[in-house]
Amino acid sequence: MRSARTILLGAALLGAVAGSPAAQGPGAVPTDNRERLLAPAPARTKILFEMRGMLEALEGVLDALARGDRVAAAEAARHAGVAHAVDAAPQMQRVLPAAFVEAGLETHRAFDALATFLERPGDERGALAELAALTGRCVACHAVWRLDEAR
Ligand code: HEC
Repeated sequence: MRSARTILLGAALLGAVAGSPAAQGPGAVPTDNRERLLAPAPARTKILFEMRGMLEALEGVLDALARGDRVAAAEAARHAGVAHAVDAAPQMQRVLPAAFVEAGLETHRAFDALATFLERPGDERGALAELAALTGRCVACHAVWRLDEAR
């Protein structure tokens, strides 16, 4: 069985050449051939809430870095760490494919790793490289899956 990472990477590369928003010309109607996941409304609401939390954390990290405040940047990253993962909950694991749950958890682990990286003194380009790798995870997963409400 291919690992979740291989699947995500392959799909991200495919998305980059075929269906990614950046690859669509202006005015083109985008095609959506992502895999459709179904989750009961409360689970879907929780996951999307968690997604917005990760986006907020990213904004917090970037804003703090722009002010040169690594401590605040680390704190913002920690807010999206594993301790804040709803997709680790057993009820999520029942409704979502294992590869999806694992990719979500890996992303939370990457936020923790970023926080640890930022807690130590280091160069700004290193922090940007960490951020680029982290946001690559968001892009890869979004290229593969969408999440609809189970009826
Ligand atoms: C494990 C897969 C996965 C990862 C990793 C992931 N997302 Fe998502 N995200 C999704 C899915 C699926 C949706 C729903 C998309 C849809 O149905 O069109 C979504 C939706 C969102 C939304 C919309 C929320 C709403 O209220 O509608 C935001 C914002 C978002 N993600 C941010 C992020 C950010 C930022 C990251 C990376 C730090 C990230 N996501 C990583 C799977 C993922």
